[in-house]
Amino acid sequence: MSVTPLDYLLSRRSVKLVQSPGPDDHQLAQILQTAMSAPDHGRLQPWRFTLIREEGIARLAELSTSAIKAANLPFPPEKEASVRRWLAKVPLLIGIACQIDHSNTKIPEHERMLAVGAAATNMLNAAHMLGFGAFWSTGLGTYLDEVTEALGFDNLDYRFMGFLSIGTPIVTLDPVQRPDYQQFVTEWAG
Ligand SMILES: Cc1cc2nc3c(=O)[nH]c(=O)nc-3n(C[C@H](O)[C@H](O)[C@H](O)COP(=O)(O)O)c2cc1C
Repeated sequence: MSVTPLDYLLSRRSVKLVQSPGPDDHQLAQILQTAMSAPDHGRLQPWRFTLIREEGIARLAELSTSAIKAANLPFPPEKEASVRRWLAKVPLLIGIACQIDHSNTKIPEHERMLAVGAAATNMLNAAHMLGFGAFWSTGLGTYLDEVTEALGFDNLDYRFMGFLSIGTPIVTLDPVQRPDYQQFVTEWAG
């Protein structure tokens, strides 16, 4: 039986440990284009993405590890070593930011961020549908100005929302047992 789009949505799971090859140019364009169909109140298109590959990933590893240490965040040597091992194999990171428009008082900031979150989710699903492993992380100094400003997102105008890592899964992971939706649903009839 063929795999339907719904089957892909149901089987998506995060895959952190990935290696090359990452998406080719066409596949990357397809993944990024799915972000454009995210729900977006007021069509503000608040999403901004920065592609980080090869040398850029090596530089980000240095930048974020030194920023995390400078900020005195908990970062034991084993954690640093595992972050470096992870990044050494990742072929593609997509940095995700939400642009803030201070003059727009009609649509609250959190709705812009929800739109960007939906865009990121579309990309996670698209990467999965194309056979890649993908993972959303707010590690790597996501909330440190030194990191986000170096990536081009100053904190006056942007909320940096983390990184998607995308590549070929290093090991095949079993499906995740998901909860039954019914425990989260009630019916309201007035
Ligand atoms: C906004 C956001 C940030 C996240 N940041 C991290 C992170 O820094 N580290 C981490 O281990 N998981 C993080 N996660 C969770 C993983 O991306 C992933 O969703 C989780 O491991 C559960 O796997 P699943 O997506 O297969 O259910 C984050 C998820 C979201 C939505």
